[in-house]
Amino acid sequence: MTQTSPARAGVPSADAKPALSKIEQAKAELCGLELEPRLDELGRQGWESLDEATLTIRLKWLGIFFRPVTPGRFMVRLRLPNGVISADQLEVLADVVDRCGEHGSADITTRQNIQLRGLLLEDMAPLMAALKRVGLTSRQSGHDNPRNLTGNPLAGIDPEEFIDTRPLVAAIQEALLGPCGPRNLPRKFNVAVGGAPDSFLLHNDLAFLPAIHQGELGFTVMVGGFFSAQRNELAVPLGLWLPAGQLPAFTLAVLRHYERHGNRQQRNKSRLMYLLDQLGLEPYRQVVLDTWQELAAELGPELFGDPTAACPHDGSHLVSRAPRAGLGVQPQKQEGLHWVGLHVPMGRLDAEAMAELARLARSHGSGELRLTEAQNALIVNVPAERLEPLLAEPLLQRFRPDPSPLQAEAVSCTGNAYCGFALIPTKGTAQAVLEELEARVELPHAVRMHWTGCPNACGQPHMGQIGLMGAKARKDGQMVEAAKIFLGGSMDADPRLAELHDKGVPLSDLPDVLEELLVERFDARRRQPVSS
Ligand code: HEM
Ligand code: SF4
Repeated sequence: MTQTSPARAGVPSADAKPALSKIEQAKAELCGLELEPRLDELGRQGWESLDEATLTIRLKWLGIFFRPVTPGRFMVRLRLPNGVISADQLEVLADVVDRCGEHGSADITTRQNIQLRGLLLEDMAPLMAALKRVGLTSRQSGHDNPRNLTGNPLAGIDPEEFIDTRPLVAAIQEALLGPCGPRNLPRKFNVAVGGAPDSFLLHNDLAFLPAIHQGELGFTVMVGGFFSAQRNELAVPLGLWLPAGQLPAFTLAVLRHYERHGNRQQRNKSRLMYLLDQLGLEPYRQVVLDTWQELAAELGPELFGDPTAACPHDGSHLVSRAPRAGLGVQPQKQEGLHWVGLHVPMGRLDAEAMAELARLARSHGSGELRLTEAQNALIVNVPAERLEPLLAEPLLQRFRPDPSPLQAEAVSCTGNAYCGFALIPTKGTAQAVLEELEARVELPHAVRMHWTGCPNACGQPHMGQIGLMGAKARKDGQMVEAAKIFLGGSMDADPRLAELHDKGVPLSDLPDVLEELLVERFDARRRQPVSS
């Protein structure tokens, strides 16, 4: 049996449970990772000749997404642990997008990640080789896999950080993509590591929050956070504290247990929280620790760490506020160096902008960039004398270091240009509405708006102070494109999910309705009309 076979010991096979869904059957028949050496051949065959399960399910194990809205033009989702990317890597991606001509673009996502668009199936084999050459991968970034690992975007440069999350996130990724990592989870799985007072992480299935135990800085474990069309939950304390070095082994144990025991019959009841509901939090903690013990005994401490290092914990932690936007010029913890945070409207990039960002990072900084969950980009390690030339670069007219309070932290999912689920053109609508609102009102502080195209909620509308979700509504007797409005989301020390406020405002009425809300609830002042 190969390492990548989904039917290895402990993982249910198609025969083990007769009620497997169609998706589970396809996964059990052949793991998408097995397709990697065959990508060249698949490209030559052409996408039309692929069976549906390969096209729409298995290729996602390699990060390759068939997009029904643009048939034949694929999306590739990378992995960028902790949102760190070098100028060399970004240049390679810019080149890939450039070669897709008018079809090419890229998005910064809310998992500090990049999605490339417009690729052909025959591009995939050379793309995978090019990614490998610059230390990138798109492996296991889609479908039922552990998604891109997020961490403090300011890790290592942050005057306020408790711990640098980059090596921790990198070590977890190495463990997850290694021989003991999961191949056939029941559903996707999100993991995040916090390292500063402001890292908001509780929408992840597994989040490690910095916490002190008996004078030692380590992490308290939070579990079960997720959003979906049916249910939204923030992660809850598992009652366990871990030293930093044990995060990879513990994550593997959590995923091995989830791979064995998660729900494979109902996909809308298979995220980790449902397993916690079923087992109860304390019994769950015990079975994860038992799984960890078992794996450590079986495979040895170099792979599976030391389960005795885990300590009972009350869940208290050092996270105390909502995340900083990190935009503009900010002093790093390294004397004389700065990061410059640039606002990328709706996270949308084109080849030219990507190449230009890479050039700016190299010529004014150390050749490194960071991506944020608010879909923005930071150029790091800029010496004081390079600030002025950087701020004078033409790209900064487009990706501003000082965007308006409405734009700064606005995030948006893909929308109907590329995603078949979308009920509205999310990014375009968001941008147009924000520009209209900026012309109408002045705001004394940022207001975080989260836009999403459908109830799948990829744009995390429940995390926004204002959340918007694509919908349909009736206007003048016609069904029209609309948005549900959610209010009250907060990402501070006491996080809250936004609640439904209006179940469908026609898009044409949105500027008026949002203007009213901003004035009534967010201290906005109407601008004086310009007299003609
Ligand atoms: C059954 C439910 C869901 C479906 C079918 C779904 C589908 C998709 C699709 C098709 C894309 C890629 C669209 C494109 O850019 O072309 C996407 C992206 C994304 N989705 Fe979802 N989604 C679901 C639920 C969620 C939820 C609940 C979240 C978390 C709030 C989420 C977070 C994301 C993120 C962050 C991305 C960007 C890629 C990344 O960095 O991982 N999705 N989703
Ligand atoms: S929220 Fe809906 S429209 Fe937006 S990316 Fe997710 S599935 Fe597509």
